[in-house]
Amino acid sequence: MIEKIGVVGAGQMGAGIAQVAAMNGFSVILNDIEDSFLDSGMRRIQKSLSSLLKKDRITEDQKNKTLDQIETTLKIKAFEQVDFVVEAVIEKESLKLDIFKQLDETCKPEAILSTNTSSIPITRIASATKRAHQVIGMHFMNPVPVMKLVEIIRGLATSDETFSATRDLALKLKKTPVAANDSPGFISNRVLLPMINEAIFALYEGVGTTEAIDSVMKLGMNHPMGPLALADLIGLDTCLSIMEVLHNGFGDPKYRPCPLLRKYVEAGYLGRKTGKGFYTY
Ligand code: CAA
Repeated sequence: MIEKIGVVGAGQMGAGIAQVAAMNGFSVILNDIEDSFLDSGMRRIQKSLSSLLKKDRITEDQKNKTLDQIETTLKIKAFEQVDFVVEAVIEKESLKLDIFKQLDETCKPEAILSTNTSSIPITRIASATKRAHQVIGMHFMNPVPVMKLVEIIRGLATSDETFSATRDLALKLKKTPVAANDSPGFISNRVLLPMINEAIFALYEGVGTTEAIDSVMKLGMNHPMGPLALADLIGLDTCLSIMEVLHNGFGDPKYRPCPLLRKYVEAGYLGRKTGKGFYTY
């Protein structure tokens, strides 16, 4: 039975996952490598809960209970008692492999280790552990408290039990699980990121301004936000990492990252999180 959830990474995804887990009655341990990252993750959760309280979606008591359910730690060692882990660190393969090795050594043998990776193969991440049958992709969407989807991705060795337990957990978090195969970008980013990359090419080639491109997609296709604003929300570094996974994974030039995306990332224009991307915040 899953009661205690460990979340690795207190960034926008990790904080959102910790919040949703705590709001649904799970006890959560949130881990990151610096106090300042944990503080900023907890501030993000506070802000989101305050906005839900203001709209009467939750009570003051629920807000306080949710916050009480979350413990923070700098040590993965604190995950000894967790039943389920969601790893949500940046999209850097070597880092994820290292974390999974540590999780495998620390967590109890029956614990399931999941990753919120947006594109790195689950089978490769599982290979860093000695429990590949208990490793799975659990891919949440940003902003986590709002978006209904959780994409669930089995690695080659993932067992049926692990899949069912992960799907049941997604339902308990009031999300809708959808299964995808372990192919670069899974379903979500196989479709979304080439669209965003194409929007960046359209900007790069002067087909339209940032505002024009986003307006066309919002007003013409009913997208809730334009692709360039969405890229800023996701983080341009994450967008670039996903395009690189698609490009390397398929070896097809249609997935080459737009040079403008690369340039923005090199300049540190990473979107909302740095205050500058295609828009200024
Ligand atoms: N916590 C709690 N509530 C939040 C929130 C948060 N972090 N962020 C937004 N909300 C709520 C708002 O309070 C608001 O609630 P009400 O409608 O009840 O008032 C609602 O969400 C809508 O927010 P806003 O009114 O501020 O703005 P909006 O109507 O423009 O919606 C949005 C914002 C939900 C982000 C919407 O623009 C949207 O759906 N955008 C697309 C998001 C998307 O595509 N996400 C997937 C990205 S891809 C990904 O995550 C995976 C990957 O691997 C890259």
